[in-house]
Amino acid sequence: MSEITPPEPGEKGFHTLSLPLKRPLNAIEIQIVDAIAKKLKRDHISFSQTDDLLRFHYHTLNFDLFKAHVPHVLSEYHNRFPEAEIDDTLFTALVSGLENIKSYGIKMGKRVYVDYNKERKVRGRPKKVARRVSYFYAADHTFTPEVNELPHEFINKILCGDSMEVLKGIPSNSVDLVFTSPPYNFGLDYQKSEDGVLWDEYFEKLFAVFSECIRVMKYGGRIIVNVQPLFSDYIPIHHIISNFFMENHLIWKGEILWEKNNYNCKYTAWGSWKSPSNPYLKYTWEFVEIFCKGELKKTGDKADADITADEFKKWVVARWSIGPERAMKEYGHPAMFPEDLVERVLKLFSFKNDIILDPFNGVGTTSVVAKKLERRYIGIDISEEYCKKAEERLKKMQIQKQLDLV
Ligand SMILES: C[S@@+](CC[C@H](N)C(=O)[O-])C[C@H]1O[C@@H](n2cnc3c(N)ncnc32)[C@H](O)[C@@H]1O
Repeated sequence: MSEITPPEPGEKGFHTLSLPLKRPLNAIEIQIVDAIAKKLKRDHISFSQTDDLLRFHYHTLNFDLFKAHVPHVLSEYHNRFPEAEIDDTLFTALVSGLENIKSYGIKMGKRVYVDYNKERKVRGRPKKVARRVSYFYAADHTFTPEVNELPHEFINKILCGDSMEVLKGIPSNSVDLVFTSPPYNFGLDYQKSEDGVLWDEYFEKLFAVFSECIRVMKYGGRIIVNVQPLFSDYIPIHHIISNFFMENHLIWKGEILWEKNNYNCKYTAWGSWKSPSNPYLKYTWEFVEIFCKGELKKTGDKADADITADEFKKWVVARWSIGPERAMKEYGHPAMFPEDLVERVLKLFSFKNDIILDPFNGVGTTSVVAKKLERRYIGIDISEEYCKKAEERLKKMQIQKQLDLV
């Protein structure tokens, strides 16, 4: 059978999936098995056969490739040997058998089934946590768990105006998740707002908006902020923003490194090349800070969770490699989210039908993805031009959806 030597039954480092055989495999089916194994030869898998079992031995596997490849091989062999008796159900059972395995980790895009969850345990952890109190800075919050309905006029709307003002009209405790990327104060060329003011003024305005965001969030709601510190000015914006939320009793849930693989920054400042005198650190990533109001757990209907098992396992590893948005010229905005980033945030941290707010909505990427993923949205931006673009994107999406249904 396969070129790879199968492990001994029960050999350490492998699991085995056994599929009952109605009859021993015929010559064509053996070729199919070999073709599957060959295609995935970089993975740690192999097949073996007994009289009444086909056994699949696995350790590490690119499951997405496997799932796509098996039907492809089957149809190839059906075409080549139309007369041959091929038991398709066996191979379907192989794919669904693997699909149903829940216990695995993800490494370099592959499923790792064995020894992935070895973790050093802290002895007596619950006692230690109880003594030192988790997230002590948020323990004395005064948030109430009431939930208010968001009035109809705010649902699925792009609102043009200064967030500081617009947010005042939104009821407290009515929004499930805020995802945003504020102006970074780099001096970027936005249509209406000045990006490059004195830092005190910048933080004063930003925190006025964030205070409103905290107010409108439901208990258990999340605020997720994407920021890029201004390294040339030595201003760690991500830390300053995090401090603000902690001082306002939100719980820091974690931080995602959004790896943009952006290597086109200069290597060093003049005079410090190859010198410890003042090396300039380069960053190829941005930060995504996650905070919760009142509690870490968010309530929602299980049927409204739309993240797949593989997505979940890949995305809870908090370093996300996603290239920057390529269509910024087309939309005329200098700092857009890539849709992939928004999709991960929304699927990992919100349920379908949740209310998603972006108070610095730009050309509406958060709203567009929220709509695509069957969430409800509110997008606010100070620039009429950006708001118009956001509306156009949403309309285009709606038309496409209707065309897809025809
Ligand atoms: C980093 S961009 C966000 C881009 C957005 N994530 C996207 O994908 O298009 C920040 C946005 O904040 C907007 N802005 C700046 N000050 C504002 C304010 N006070 N109220 C509302 N929007 C504001 C700017 O017009 C800009 O579009």
